[in-house]
Amino acid sequence: LDNGLMRTPPMGWLAWERYRCDIDCQNDPKNCISEGLFRDMADRLSEDGWRELGYSYINIDDCWSDMNRDGNGRLQADAKRFPSGIPHLARYIHNRGLKLGIYGDMGTHTCGGYPGTTLDKITTDAQTFADWEIDMLKLDGCYSNVTEQEQGYPAMSKALNATGRPIAYSCSWPAYQGGLPPQVNYTLLGEICNLWRNYGDIQDSWSSVLNIADWFFKNQDILQPAAGPGRWNDPDMLVIGDFGLSMDQSRSQMALWAIMAAPLFMSNDLRTISSEARTILQNKVAITINQDPMGVQGRRLLVESSGIEVFWRPLSDKTSALVFFSRRTDMPYRYQTSLGKLHYATGTYQIYDVFAQREMPALKDSTSFLVSINPTGVVMWYISAPADEDQDNAH
Ligand code: DGJ
Repeated sequence: LDNGLMRTPPMGWLAWERYRCDIDCQNDPKNCISEGLFRDMADRLSEDGWRELGYSYINIDDCWSDMNRDGNGRLQADAKRFPSGIPHLARYIHNRGLKLGIYGDMGTHTCGGYPGTTLDKITTDAQTFADWEIDMLKLDGCYSNVTEQEQGYPAMSKALNATGRPIAYSCSWPAYQGGLPPQVNYTLLGEICNLWRNYGDIQDSWSSVLNIADWFFKNQDILQPAAGPGRWNDPDMLVIGDFGLSMDQSRSQMALWAIMAAPLFMSNDLRTISSEARTILQNKVAITINQDPMGVQGRRLLVESSGIEVFWRPLSDKTSALVFFSRRTDMPYRYQTSLGKLHYATGTYQIYDVFAQREMPALKDSTSFLVSINPTGVVMWYISAPADEDQDNAH
């Protein structure tokens, strides 16, 4: 969507995967969906180095609202859990240099059973969100039919634009239509949404991360051209820092999401996150790769019978990224290849190992090398343009 927003994939924090529809503030005050949770995460994003790295959105998901609209037909936050109100929370977040996202649903109800946005309520809800100084809307798709979605998603795009407030727009539409043509029209999505969920919900497990990555790369010929500045495929949240992934698997999610030019919305507890998980999420070069201004989504280049897969993403200024990924479950695998075999042109390349955080010896396209890839892990390289060949001959 050409609204000037999200020229690179959005980054931030989203409540759903970790906090779900926990509304039990009596017994679980620290983790329930309430203004305190979002203020806590805003404090962490702004004080623990996240915001400077680009993690700037704090996004509310389902279960934030009252079960009823107010007397004027407007959505209202649950007064017990959001006693200061959403506009106050927006100010709190803006004061910390962050942005606030909210959640709605194109349909009669949200997936959690809260009031949805039916076709007749689209203008009202867009205006409410603008009045509250919201910066992003995720519009889910539970409890609506194909026709309502076909009308509703474009109508909300227009309605948000008509408010005059820049509000980024995340559409769950394709996820409710199987994610593929002919049901899904990616050209249209790119015109009306800044990002869209193509596929099912992520869970806190390696099998879920792998299942999502497999679906996206299997369908890369369709999905890859759909992405670009202002319009991104969304394979769903990062679950790094939660309970389901090992550190190798966490690096794999970070690497594959960077290759996919995916939105980087963490869903974790930034108050208690381990330093290892934080190091992965705050890896500057992985973020640089994800945030490349050219905005070309990467692809899977190779699937080896050994269980090794190679991914590649072209980046600006003749740089690129490679990911070597192992599906194996035995031991570190020593994979032998060369840049030439991976379609790199003749030349000598500078290589930076993203997670080892070290510069490697320069590498000729023709030189064979070995990388050791841990089970369910990755090795990620950030590769710079061929060093000027003349330099070899210069005095
Ligand atoms: C389905 C979405 O895909 C999830 O990300 C989350 O928003 C839930 N609905 C909320 O009910």
